[in-house]
Amino acid sequence: MAPKMDLYQKVFDNNKKWVAQKTAEKPDFFATLAKEQNPDFLYIGCSDSRVPANEIMGVEPGNVFVHRNIANLVLHTDLNVQSVIEYAVTHLKVKHIVVCGHYGCGGVKAAMQSADLGILNPWLREVRDVYRNHQDSLETLDEETRYRHLIELNVREQCVNIIKTAAVQQSWLKTQYPTVHGWVYDLHNGILKDLNLDFDDILERIRRVYHLDNP
Ligand code: CO
Repeated sequence: MAPKMDLYQKVFDNNKKWVAQKTAEKPDFFATLAKEQNPDFLYIGCSDSRVPANEIMGVEPGNVFVHRNIANLVLHTDLNVQSVIEYAVTHLKVKHIVVCGHYGCGGVKAAMQSADLGILNPWLREVRDVYRNHQDSLETLDEETRYRHLIELNVREQCVNIIKTAAVQQSWLKTQYPTVHGWVYDLHNGILKDLNLDFDDILERIRRVYHLDNP
């Protein structure tokens, strides 16, 4: 119990130091930020405490609009993530939307167990659906490779889910923004990998089936 309390008490000291440091570097740091936000990125990542969005991207407050949940999922019934996408695209006019998964993801690992996970069942069903759609090829792989590959496939599928939204399709046709990217972060070495998804090709294929923009 004691170490946790220590960390809790440190937070406010840390905050004071951070404010002092930021203000020393740039006296109007907070005044400028308070006026408006104009981020280029929407980042959708896992809630995992080891994957802090701003830190792994090396960007300051104001640069990235962030949404995180277990296993970085973009479900069409999730009002939370759908609102975040709508706001980021329509109002903030972000240039890039990133889905960032990570190797060692507990959510994906849990979804790979054929077990009853309570309230997590409906949430992680998305990952299980991704598994089912790639079951034959996944099951030719050894367990560790299969785990890593499912993490990458899940990121790709969530990117596809973003491209299915009306907000993204309409904005893209009007402004050529945003572009959707899939990334995977490696907990073991801190390296961020771009899966280099072919956004144009995915969009083109998606629009043949999920055409949501009015002419
Ligand atoms: Co995770």
